[in-house]
Amino acid sequence: MFATRLPATSDDYRRLAERRLPRFLFDYIDGGANDEQTLTANQRDFQSLRLRQRVLRDVRQVDTRCTLFGQAARMPLALAPLGLAGLYGRRGEAQAARAASTAGVPFSLSTVGICALAEVHAASAQPCWFQLYMLRDREVVLRLLQRAWASGCKTLLFTVDLAVAGIRHRDTRNGMLNQGWRGKLARASQLAARPGWLLDVGLLGKPHHFGNLTDCVADPKDLTAFKAWLDSQFDAGVTWQDILWLRQHWPGTLILKGLLEVDDALRALDCGADGIVLSNHGGRQLDGVASTIHQLPAVAAALDGRLPILLDGGVRSGVDILKALALGAQGVLIGRPWAWALAGAGQTGVEQLLAGLQRELVVAMALCGVQTLAQVDASLVG
Ligand SMILES: Cc1cc2nc3c(=O)[nH]c(=O)nc-3n(C[C@H](O)[C@H](O)[C@H](O)COP(=O)(O)O)c2cc1C
Repeated sequence: MFATRLPATSDDYRRLAERRLPRFLFDYIDGGANDEQTLTANQRDFQSLRLRQRVLRDVRQVDTRCTLFGQAARMPLALAPLGLAGLYGRRGEAQAARAASTAGVPFSLSTVGICALAEVHAASAQPCWFQLYMLRDREVVLRLLQRAWASGCKTLLFTVDLAVAGIRHRDTRNGMLNQGWRGKLARASQLAARPGWLLDVGLLGKPHHFGNLTDCVADPKDLTAFKAWLDSQFDAGVTWQDILWLRQHWPGTLILKGLLEVDDALRALDCGADGIVLSNHGGRQLDGVASTIHQLPAVAAALDGRLPILLDGGVRSGVDILKALALGAQGVLIGRPWAWALAGAGQTGVEQLLAGLQRELVVAMALCGVQTLAQVDASLVG
């Protein structure tokens, strides 16, 4: 059956993903922490910002090209690291990395991605950004850093907002955290409702272990043992001292991901970070914190150009990208939108999503009367 309506926006891909994914996976992507107030605020606060329309400015040539941490990009956007993306689409990280490469934007691979670095690099014409969580076993951390560097990654996103995992009620309700018979039954019935996903991703997309961590556990196919190892490795004791340690061991670009407050951003500068991602983990960690776009002006003013800022959380359109740039970000990351596009329509979906975002950014810039990103500033937001 041919679809009679084609996806045009992030939200259209969200609906496609909902039809295709087992419920527990859709909600794992879609949901946020606790009452999801921060998740909601991330998007709502973008919507409440007003751009200023400007006319008669000759906008025949609008250029969205830029450099993100030394890497040329066709627009100021990168794909955010998402764990388990190999469950959203068959070999999902490889498909998304290929799409990002086609669109000319960076792709970030999560520590807990399904595809290993080598598979992602084989699929893509450009090296990815690598995202790392601090693990208790620092030898494993060093090994991962060395492997990433040797495979050509020059940019490390080091995530700092997951000292402990946030509480996500949708995961509890769907049985995602329950290894007992009730959890298994709940998941089995959700899987049975999605035979297309079961064949395409569940069966043909194997193996489903964490590709970058397979040498850390005796039997990577034993997912329960794998999860137990990973749970034991998340290090709630990480401090700024560890950032200094990391700085010594990572010769490339070091970006701290998951800062939200001015004093933390200034501390990142002192620790030798090369940039920050202003992020609340897409509203998945501490519910009740401010949206990232709300925090941006104060953080940008405090850093005063001394450290580039990327922003994520709630970016759903080219108009949102322009608003973030106007308030002081050098670029944005998108998380859920690429997961939905991947789940709904694979690599093509991610390519079309990215092309659509760029088109929207061009049109928004033109109608605000600017031709280049250098002309984008706070005067665009009324
Ligand atoms: C399903 C899912 C998995 C994620 N996994 C990771 C991860 O492994 N590492 C990480 O640093 N951030 C992770 N994040 C956070 C994203 O990198 C990003 O900060 C967030 O999705 C941005 O918000 P948005 O989804 O509204 O665009 C994840 C987010 C989602 C939705």
